[in-house]
Amino acid sequence: MGERFPFGIPDGWYVVAASDELRPGRVLARRYFDRELAIYRSESGVVSIIDAFCPHMGAHLGKVGQVRGETLRCSFHGFVYDGAGTCVATAYDGPPPAKARLQRWEVREQNGLILTYFDSQGRAPEWEVPVLDEAGWNRIRWKRFAIDTHPQETTENSVDFGHFTELHGFIDGSVLRDVQTSGPSLQTSYRAWRPYGLPNRKPIYKFPVEYHVKVWGLGFSQVDVEIGLFGINARVFVLPVPIDDEHIDLILGVSTETKFGPIAPLLRRIAHTILCQEVGQDLDIWNYKAFIQLPALAKGDGPVATYRAWARQFYSDGQRS
Ligand code: FES
Ligand SMILES: [Fe+2]
Repeated sequence: MGERFPFGIPDGWYVVAASDELRPGRVLARRYFDRELAIYRSESGVVSIIDAFCPHMGAHLGKVGQVRGETLRCSFHGFVYDGAGTCVATAYDGPPPAKARLQRWEVREQNGLILTYFDSQGRAPEWEVPVLDEAGWNRIRWKRFAIDTHPQETTENSVDFGHFTELHGFIDGSVLRDVQTSGPSLQTSYRAWRPYGLPNRKPIYKFPVEYHVKVWGLGFSQVDVEIGLFGINARVFVLPVPIDDEHIDLILGVSTETKFGPIAPLLRRIAHTILCQEVGQDLDIWNYKAFIQLPALAKGDGPVATYRAWARQFYSDGQRS
């Protein structure tokens, strides 16, 4: 019998919001990493992430906090916190209590995404998700899904070569570049033929698509998709973030090149729709599957064992994949 979630929450960078969800002066409440978080953007535009429960008497700053300049003010009794989580003022006379401190979380805002770093031992990050050159690419179009699964499982999808034909209907898949790992990153490339035709009919046409997969930790996957026949390139982002160790939010993002001028947003919309349909095919797998520790692998499976060995580095609390 496989267990469904024998992992714990993996260390790494996770996308906790998209930049366009958080205008200056706004606050978001998020439950991630089994914690309650308040994510706010100051009036000058700086994003801060702090634990949400006000140490005074427990109000949820993600729900009732109000941005004032560079700080977040609790609307229960008026304690004011800076981006480092330190209480810098109260509504009363006298100095803020020394105990009024909140954990602050690392923040990176890059490529239209807001990331934070989770580490089960509270260590600082030793690696970063690279910043992409956005010249020639339009803004990421994204959508968030709530799924009963774990980043270990969704990221394993990238190397699960066998399911592309069976579940997603690709034809004649082949590996262009075997999986390679380097520290927190994993890369591989493959080519498959996509069928095209009327629904529920034999495909009338097929064209080759190349997928270049680049993964940083278990929370950030980028797939560069090339449809050479039509000269179309897309960047696909698959971004799971743990709500706890049994539930994730998954952001699916797509960006396309601006070289197509006025039709570029339409291409991005079509690419995003196709991506969401494809991930829709994975949903019931993820929502209900068990993790098989020793899978009965067969010829034709992808490098699942290589992926799992690489993924072990992200678990530092004794729980191992
Ligand atoms: S609970 Fe936040 S100021 Fe009292
Ligand atoms: Fe899939």
